[in-house]
Amino acid sequence: MARGKMIYEGKAKILYEGPDPDTLVQYFKDDATAFNAQKMEVIGGKGALNNRLSEFFMQGLMQIGIPTHFIKRLNMREQLIRRVDIIPLEVIVRNVAAGSISKRLGMEEGSQLPRPIVEFSYKDDALGDPLVPEEYISAFGWASQHELDEIVSIALRVNDFLSGVMLAVGIKLVDFKIEIGRVIEGDFQRLIVADEISPDSCRLWDIKTGEKLDKDVFRRDLGNLADAYTEVARRLGVLPSNTPKPGKPTLVN
Ligand code: TMP
Ligand code: ASP
Repeated sequence: MARGKMIYEGKAKILYEGPDPDTLVQYFKDDATAFNAQKMEVIGGKGALNNRLSEFFMQGLMQIGIPTHFIKRLNMREQLIRRVDIIPLEVIVRNVAAGSISKRLGMEEGSQLPRPIVEFSYKDDALGDPLVPEEYISAFGWASQHELDEIVSIALRVNDFLSGVMLAVGIKLVDFKIEIGRVIEGDFQRLIVADEISPDSCRLWDIKTGEKLDKDVFRRDLGNLADAYTEVARRLGVLPSNTPKPGKPTLVN
């Protein structure tokens, strides 16, 4: 499928116009970034792995009735998706304390949280995606109160689904981030899961050993990121047959 002109380049993905106005082609890059792109590397194989893993998770969500932007995978690095009006929020669900909540509240990483916690960051790289209360979101019109209620409900259903899928392959879903978009269907506006779901946007720990199988491997220099993502894909049975063998990471700058 011929893709159209590039409309957006992010840190890990590029969006191109799709074959019709309601679609886009999402291209997964091999670039890994952390700390608002202060740390960057090219990790051979990452784009293909995330393309397959995001396809797997989005398809699973659609099978249980949670709508997503995913239409079909086109090739190793690209998928056809629905064009959405993205809500400028990172919707984060946490089951276990790690990362920024541990820092903010002085909680030991690995502490079980009393219940899944949903929080929101305002998507703005220049501001470092600050954590925002729901009050800001409705007051500034990023999403209505009604949409927020639906976003929380979607996020918790995604959490139940992903936690179960991971548990079945011996992985604990510590936390994850999703993004939500609006689509118009007839006379109605609907919220759907957009962007990607991959080990770039989750924390995944081996249940027995605690080994990290997510982007923290890169953020914290814990080993080979592509090996960690390959292990997740292998356990889930979604290893692409012809993913390039992870090579030596190349410094971007
Ligand atoms: P945090 O603990 O750094 O706030 O991250 C929470 C979750 O959100 C974790 O699974 C990683 C994911 N995440 C992203 O997907 N993108 C981001 O830019 C950040 C900061 C976190
Ligand atoms: N995605 C963000 C960045 O590039 C942060 C992160 O995932 O740690 O910088």
